[in-house]
Amino acid sequence: MAVQTLDDLLNAGVEGRAVLVRSDLNVPLDGDRITDPGRIIASAPTLKALAEAGAKVIVTAHLGRPKGEPDPQYSLAPVAVKLAEVLGRNVQLAGDVVGQDALARAEGLTDGDVLLLENIRFDPRETSKDEAERTKLAKALVELVGDDGAFVSDGFGVVHRAQASVYEVAKLLPHYAGTLVEAEIKVLGKLTQEAERPYAVVLGGSKVSDKLAVIEALAPKVDTLVIGGGMYYTFLAAQGVSVGNSLCEESMIDTCKALLEQYADVIHIPQDVVIADSFSADAESKIVSVLEIPDGWMGLDIGPQSVRRFAAILTSAKTVFWNGPMGVFEFEKFAAGTKGVAEAIIEATGKGAYSVVGGGDSAAAVRQLGLPEDGFSHISTGGGASLEYLEGKELPGIAVLEG
Ligand code: 3PG
Repeated sequence: MAVQTLDDLLNAGVEGRAVLVRSDLNVPLDGDRITDPGRIIASAPTLKALAEAGAKVIVTAHLGRPKGEPDPQYSLAPVAVKLAEVLGRNVQLAGDVVGQDALARAEGLTDGDVLLLENIRFDPRETSKDEAERTKLAKALVELVGDDGAFVSDGFGVVHRAQASVYEVAKLLPHYAGTLVEAEIKVLGKLTQEAERPYAVVLGGSKVSDKLAVIEALAPKVDTLVIGGGMYYTFLAAQGVSVGNSLCEESMIDTCKALLEQYADVIHIPQDVVIADSFSADAESKIVSVLEIPDGWMGLDIGPQSVRRFAAILTSAKTVFWNGPMGVFEFEKFAAGTKGVAEAIIEATGKGAYSVVGGGDSAAAVRQLGLPEDGFSHISTGGGASLEYLEGKELPGIAVLEG
């Protein structure tokens, strides 16, 4: 059965109705300063459309991974302020998730009001392994919107989680996909079903174990798989080369070795790296061949020769998917690899390629490095979710909308 969308809900009429929206407002913070508001901005169109149509909008979202109890460092307070600014309307923040304050505020809403509930993960039932517990929380959320309420799933970044506010609640209310979820599925569907060749995938980030499933799923389907970032050093170790103090997942070495053998024609890895004598922004650094990482040093970026080689591959691709930075781009000295690869993808896009940045750190890198967001065909808000989609896994938060 097809998924109902926000347009279907708006056509059905929302004036005076309370609508619960699950958004992904999980933004990176430095203290209480939001360093990348991308997910808030991407969540705004659905919320705005509902508020403008006269709905009483109740938003539920998580921030970080608190331990199932209120923790001020994970409060959505800074997010509420930014969301109000982006929406251009007042956003109330409830002092709790589904408690007295949330209930009282929900009851007091008038048409077009927006209420943000406190971090849903302050309630242990959200991520409970026990479905009955999750259902209890979902029922409490339903109580906030009342009998004629509706649920809009718009937190694409969290649709791979079978959690109360993503999954169980959709079973209890008329449910719709928000515009963000709809757009993300369309884009990722294009990558899985109609990718034009050559198709190049760039994977980075720190851990191979996080990316193993996607490497295994994509390597047989794409023309080129470019690997950089911290996860590369496990591949290097798999070739019997000394990686010094670089990140290395010993338990993954054999797997990496097997992947390099099986996909020798597809996988491309760096030849040179930028190494540092410590993990810090002002570390001593130098460019070396990957065969010459001295003891006590660690690789924090790919080198210029690798950037040139990767750029040559990427600029001739017709489809590019990129997930994970090539180095520690947060430190200026180690940002050139990520920037160079991103610029090559932008160049490819300018020449007509279809390019998708897969959420999380790579999306943050694009913005923090001052690269033009419209230089890519799409910047996904979902890190883990977009990877799981490309792996071909069923996403519970999407599957439930089909029911
Ligand atoms: C993300 O940051 O990818 C999403 O917000 C999901 O967060 P989670 O990995 O903590 O579930």
